[in-house]
Amino acid sequence: MAYRYIDVRSVTPTVGAEVRGVDLRETLSDEVFKEVRSAFLRHQVLFFKNQEWLSPDQQIAFARRFGGLHLHPAAPHLEGQPEIFVIHTHKGSRIANGDAWHTDVSCDKEPPLGTMLQLHKLPSVGGDTLFASMYAAWDNLSEPMQAFLSTLSARHESEHVYRGRYRDRNVDDTDRVYPEALHPIVCTHPETGRRALYVNRAFTTHIEGLEAAESKALLDFLFEHIEQPKFQARFKWEINDIAFWDNRCLQHYAMWDYWPEERKGHRVTIQGDCPYLAPPTEAPE
Ligand code: SIN
Repeated sequence: MAYRYIDVRSVTPTVGAEVRGVDLRETLSDEVFKEVRSAFLRHQVLFFKNQEWLSPDQQIAFARRFGGLHLHPAAPHLEGQPEIFVIHTHKGSRIANGDAWHTDVSCDKEPPLGTMLQLHKLPSVGGDTLFASMYAAWDNLSEPMQAFLSTLSARHESEHVYRGRYRDRNVDDTDRVYPEALHPIVCTHPETGRRALYVNRAFTTHIEGLEAAESKALLDFLFEHIEQPKFQARFKWEINDIAFWDNRCLQHYAMWDYWPEERKGHRVTIQGDCPYLAPPTEAPE
């Protein structure tokens, strides 16, 4: 596709593109926004380069162009602005957010459509984020395996992930009930119509209808399959870059290889729909 208003350069043939020529502090015209949206659907994750620091209101305003905002069930947020999840890792951190392959909040019945992260503080080296295309992971399975997986759903849970996770950031979750959901193992992307694998190591705990050993063996196989480097792009951040990824067809991994240095930014997520698997469309005669 040719772009008139923005400069879009793929970072791999499979997933990810860098975008230049927009200032996300400004309100984008409808024409520019249409191109951004089309690049997002095509490349699955966009890396907006040469950005200035966005105020929380500016980041929220840009994210709202894509839909209503999703509130994280567990994480700490900016005072008075629950839409802004503060990503922060430093010398005293016990955990780093996203430090394993996952799909954001897939335990929700309606998991977030996409996530937008701007990093304001970076370590001197490291702290990259890796992205893996779940379209590619699906497309690279055999037809018999695809047919079998298309009949299955899996449970996504979060109690084991979130309980007490942010205690050291003053989150008291004593009375919270953390979400869980059942989703098809392969889902249809509601905007592109493509199929994407939808299980991840962080939240997916069991395949419905299978014995425990069968479920474990199949999930282990899928987790390894998904993590092949040929499905991935690796993003090296510069200050104020903004990554915007599509949780409906991607997993990501935030590499915590920079301890004791600090990494900090603001994350906003956009509400999504209930994942589903549409029947295959018949080719016209
Ligand atoms: C996350 O949202 O999983 C964190 C991503 C990152 O910090 O790069």
